[in-house]
Amino acid sequence: MLMKRLIVTIDGPSGAGKTTVSRILARRLGYRYIDTGALYRGVALAAISSGLSPDDDSGLKKLCDTLKMNFVRDEKGSRLVLNDSDITDHIRTPEITMFASAVSARPVVRNFLLNLQRDLGKEKGVVFEGRDMGTVVFPNADVKFFLDASQKTRAQRRYEEFKSVNPQSFEAVERDMRRRDNNDSTRDLAPLKPAEDAILIDSTDLTIETVVDRMMAVIETIH
Ligand code: DC
Repeated sequence: MLMKRLIVTIDGPSGAGKTTVSRILARRLGYRYIDTGALYRGVALAAISSGLSPDDDSGLKKLCDTLKMNFVRDEKGSRLVLNDSDITDHIRTPEITMFASAVSARPVVRNFLLNLQRDLGKEKGVVFEGRDMGTVVFPNADVKFFLDASQKTRAQRRYEEFKSVNPQSFEAVERDMRRRDNNDSTRDLAPLKPAEDAILIDSTDLTIETVVDRMMAVIETIH
């Protein structure tokens, strides 16, 4: 366990391995792990349940004012709680995935989550995973990583991960992923891109352990 309490950010496109790597890294460091994509998915779930369209800014603003989201730990791991309901198992459907990408381009949603994410970082000793952690939310983070992999590898990983619960073909998974990557990296506000001081890691041909070891080696050099 590391005694230094740092803010570590891991940004990158979907399927690059961020979630798996962030979880293991946080455990090795004795840190909290925050999946910020889950927060965008939580907003998407609430918006769909309220019948909002993803570009209804005034509806989204009103909705965000009523949302309380928090991560709690239980025997199943880190759970996302939205207004007292555990929504962890309901936010990974293809519909929510695309809706989350659409609402993540709306300034009202980003501002709402910006404050929430910064509050979660006040304690220090956290690994934050997302798209704009190192660029916008924590520009002064102690260590920033940008994790990438080839488009084919990322689609293959996503397909394998969800094939038992998601009826989509590999081609559909790859098509959705390409569309989402395009949304996430071309939007005006906080687009997906590496921070200037981020360390780039391409996980295409690396094992999870190797990626985590490389990150640990960087973190251990920080005083
Ligand atoms: O990491 P994920 O696939 O669960 O993220 C869902 C969507 O949320 C993704 O398409 C883009 C958006 N997102 C974002 O804009 N900024 C973040 N920090 C995290 C996710």
